[in-house]
Amino acid sequence: MLRFTLLFASLFATVCWAVRLEGSIAYNSVIQDTGDLESTASALLNGGEYSTLVRKDGKFVFPEVPNGNYFLEIQSVNYMFPKIRVDINDDGVTGAYSVLGSEWDSTGYDVPYPFMLKAKAENEYFMASVYVRFKNMCNVLAKSRNSTLTEKRRLQCDEHVQEPNAYYDGYPEDMEDFNKAQVDAQKMMSDAGLGQLLAWAVALTSTDKYVNGIIVLASAFEQQQSKYPLVVLYTPQTVSEQVIDQLADLGCDMIPIEPIVPKADLKYLFERFSKTWTKLRAWQQTDYERLVLMDADMLPLHNMDELMTMTLEGPDWVAASHACTCNPQRISHYPKDWTPSTCAFTGCDRTAGTIHPPSMEKRDYFNSGLVVLTPNETVFKRMLEKLDNDEELMKYCFPDQDFLNDIFKGHWVPLPYSYNALKTLPTAHHDMWDLTDVKNIHYILTKPWDIDPNDKQDIYYPLYRLWWKEFQLLQSNL
Ligand SMILES: *[C@@H]1O[C@H](CO)[C@@H](O)[C@H](O)[C@H]1NC(C)=O
Ligand SMILES: *[C@@H]1O[C@H](CO)[C@@H](O)[C@H](O)[C@H]1NC(C)=O
Repeated sequence: MLRFTLLFASLFATVCWAVRLEGSIAYNSVIQDTGDLESTASALLNGGEYSTLVRKDGKFVFPEVPNGNYFLEIQSVNYMFPKIRVDINDDGVTGAYSVLGSEWDSTGYDVPYPFMLKAKAENEYFMASVYVRFKNMCNVLAKSRNSTLTEKRRLQCDEHVQEPNAYYDGYPEDMEDFNKAQVDAQKMMSDAGLGQLLAWAVALTSTDKYVNGIIVLASAFEQQQSKYPLVVLYTPQTVSEQVIDQLADLGCDMIPIEPIVPKADLKYLFERFSKTWTKLRAWQQTDYERLVLMDADMLPLHNMDELMTMTLEGPDWVAASHACTCNPQRISHYPKDWTPSTCAFTGCDRTAGTIHPPSMEKRDYFNSGLVVLTPNETVFKRMLEKLDNDEELMKYCFPDQDFLNDIFKGHWVPLPYSYNALKTLPTAHHDMWDLTDVKNIHYILTKPWDIDPNDKQDIYYPLYRLWWKEFQLLQSNL
């Protein structure tokens, strides 16, 4: 009996601190059978802390790996495999593709265990393509108004992007092969979460005070050390060269776009609404794998980088915060059913812990001030078609917001109010509001740049003041 107990105890001890880690190479169009992979191919953990040969049948086994976090890679002369972050603890083994770009230890999509690794491209094509893509990404990511920071980011990039010798070995004569390899490499990068371009985005359609809003946005992202650049989608016909240069100097990525004007002759409540369609071009920026589209009348207070890696349920889904439909200012042109009883935030109470997610049944309607989206040409074309053919557009109270709610009905993930904290919420939903939680204020209706910053009687004075503090600080630095 004692012997059994001891045996169990020792087994148990082993299980507790080390596991047998295994996986295999899954054959596909790139590596079609077991003979293709060279016999020296091996699996490495943490660059060689543990290593084991890949067997002829494609399997690899590390007999005993202690609890901890590791990087798993397949070392092969001829083929490129995704790298996987492996976490081992008492509950077992989990894996995720590692997301390259800024930090090697962040994680992307989960990988089921035991791992099945697929080569998607032969090494040289893959490396060449990663190299080019990475260099581009570095240029985008590294840009910053702060030259110390820019230099630091560039060094970080250079450390991870090493020029592959294969790049200079010449491409195969057969261009078709090469193109196919490029496509494979792109697909692999995207499967593995590699080389993704992620960014904040804002639309600019004129040279007016909205520019101040964008300057404040750019500076807020900089201060909060967001890893992602701010892309400004601007219409060159209506935005001055001077403004374009100024924003580029601030580190914004400037992308010219054409305005979007629906064919129907629409009557708008406010002139500014006629320009709101142009921001739909965010869906057309398919060089980016994710954009977080924001309005210029916002003030980010805390880092929100998690929005770049959060899961959306499908390629044509978005994430956004609910709109408040209380109509606290009793604005007469708002829809009649916009009353507190229909508002998703009614009943939300921070002390009761009921602030997220607000009830979907109550009102399935989001505010379009901040939208997490995946650019997609098909979705964009669908939008243009609807814009040109939909009579409903005439009835919209909030043009782009009503439109986006129509398009993404049943396809949106609610975000906490804190990501799009409407300036009216502290009064309309006092029990919910907590400024220490707020990540991003949204100055709907009257803009902070249009008010007297010293008017302490204004009920929104405390929130306007936050924007003005930021703006004045910037002006003194420019
Ligand atoms: C620039 O960035 C560096 C590194 O992050 C930081 O230490 C420094 O304070 C920044 N300088 C300014 C003027 O913001
Ligand atoms: C674009 O969206 C459509 C659905 O509207 C989807 O079927 C397609 O896979 C998406 N494309 C990409 C590249 O994600």
